[in-house]
Amino acid sequence: MRTVYVNGDYLPETEAKVSIFDRAFLMADGVYEVTSVLGGKLIDFPGHLARLERSLNELDMKKPAAFDDLLEIHRELVRLNGIEDGLIYLQVTRGSDGDRDFVFPDAETTEPTLVMFTQSKPGLADSPQAKTGLKIISIDDLRWGRRDIKTVQLLYPSMGKMMAKKAGCDDAWMVEDGFVTEGTSNNAYIVKDGKIITRELSNDILHGITRAAVLKFANEAQMVVEERPFTIDEAKQADEGFVTSASAFVMPVVEIDGTALGGGTPGPVATRLREIYLEESLKAAV
Ligand code: PDD
Repeated sequence: MRTVYVNGDYLPETEAKVSIFDRAFLMADGVYEVTSVLGGKLIDFPGHLARLERSLNELDMKKPAAFDDLLEIHRELVRLNGIEDGLIYLQVTRGSDGDRDFVFPDAETTEPTLVMFTQSKPGLADSPQAKTGLKIISIDDLRWGRRDIKTVQLLYPSMGKMMAKKAGCDDAWMVEDGFVTEGTSNNAYIVKDGKIITRELSNDILHGITRAAVLKFANEAQMVVEERPFTIDEAKQADEGFVTSASAFVMPVVEIDGTALGGGTPGPVATRLREIYLEESLKAAV
């Protein structure tokens, strides 16, 4: 049984409790982070903490703990659960003042809820999917307009994954005003004539921590990066596609709406970026 963390306590998962009046339960009034663990160490941890701080600020939500303490809690959960490879999920909510109301509760008297748990994923970095690549469908982006805030409103992304599954595919890229925003739980890229193309940062997409690291490594490796929107038609003509996220790292995309990219196998740029990302981020792991 897992040991999880709730508001200061390490507990068996079956004993962890949050109020039914918690704002995240009633209103999706919460933000989260997912950090990967490789070899018992946290990948890109400072980036995830910085984005958590930004999400909290954007929603006028209180910090649940000092950020040094969050690192210690992450490490303690890795230790208590013997995690070698896997994920740590962190969620902060606006808490509960014991009733339901659209108006935010008084932040002076209502403490945020902090929940963290681990997911063990042995061999996370050796996923067989990295060798075969993902098949993607395109769907309309029906999410709200502040996708830069990592909120727990994940119903539409979940529906998108189910639409992909129903179509015999692995994931979906979302499209708004004719252009790809991002994947249901990852940032989206295409490669054409050696150039890496990905949508620029704005409120339309999550500012991926893996994205930031991968683009930095791509620049350092003298690869050309173009940050601009692209359409599904352009993506279908691309040489390669890939996605990035804390749980998938760099994952090749080999098919979009039934059209194979390149030869329908993972391309050299995605494959190389995955290698560089894993190598460099392991070196910087804490
Ligand atoms: N998802 N875009 C969306 C919509 C996401 O949900 C995620 C991450 C990303 C990639 O961000 P990062 O590189 O910081 O993980 C982009 C996480 C992994 C999840 O919901 O499980």
